[in-house]
Amino acid sequence: MPSDPTSPSPGLDAAAALLDWYAAMGVDVTLADAPLDRFEESAKAKARAESQIAQRQSPQPEGRRPVPALELPSQGATVRPIIAAGQTAQVPTEATVMQARAAAQSAKTLDELKALIQAFDGCNLKLTAKNTVFADGNPAAKLMLIGEAPGRDEDIEGLPFVGRSGQLLDRMLNAIGYGRSQNAYIANVIYWRPPGNRDPSDVEIAICRPFILRQIELINPQLIVFLGAQPAKALLGGEAVKQGINRLRGRWCELEIGDKRFKALPTFHPAYLLRTPIKKREAWRDFLTAKVFLENGGMLPPA
Ligand code: URA
Repeated sequence: MPSDPTSPSPGLDAAAALLDWYAAMGVDVTLADAPLDRFEESAKAKARAESQIAQRQSPQPEGRRPVPALELPSQGATVRPIIAAGQTAQVPTEATVMQARAAAQSAKTLDELKALIQAFDGCNLKLTAKNTVFADGNPAAKLMLIGEAPGRDEDIEGLPFVGRSGQLLDRMLNAIGYGRSQNAYIANVIYWRPPGNRDPSDVEIAICRPFILRQIELINPQLIVFLGAQPAKALLGGEAVKQGINRLRGRWCELEIGDKRFKALPTFHPAYLLRTPIKKREAWRDFLTAKVFLENGGMLPPA
């Protein structure tokens, strides 16, 4: 939006236009009062490490103080706080994933699991999110739908799929006789909104994975519908990771958790359907397949 030359404060117009542009680009979360130049930070860290290495390699004259150890992140190391006073981002390590696994395994009920996730501080996404988005719907449902991560509306309300794509999902569910307030349960692989709706990183997925796997175990659904390729890839692993949603959708999969196998059916994400309405026909076929499967007592109908 060009600034209005007749405006008494063209500077304000320009600032407002910049904010509009940020919002349109998905930059809608403030992490710190002042901008941080990450390139400069990493260049400085590299220079520091190189100078330490050079010092360690050069002969030490008698009586000189020993060169300190290299500054590398260790398990549970903290990085400079950039969020708000009292909150500190952690460098995630394998230990963080193990911590998540232990916490998830210790949950005997859904309420316990929800409380453990809300109290878990190992995922840095929690620092920028307003809410933990755990689930919505009927925990006794035979149908569980799993999306990727909360967006802006979900973060504000603390519930999954409440924005535009959620409304489309509700309409699709209703069309096959299902609904979150009656017989469907909805969750995401990731419990906190990634800032600006960016894709969750592999580390963030690895940290949240034990929790969603335990959530599936506790719900014990007859059928899981993966909404989009990302949840299918994050939870199925293996061959699924290499395939796009056009190959994955509508194909029966099995998700093994402990000694249990869950039937799963990937389909298109409703946000993709909003952008690509021509794909609704295939998604509709997947939803009808899910309905027939559930009405058949969780058995695949004869081919
Ligand atoms: N997209 C998702 O994958 N999950 C939500 O909860 C909302 C949008």
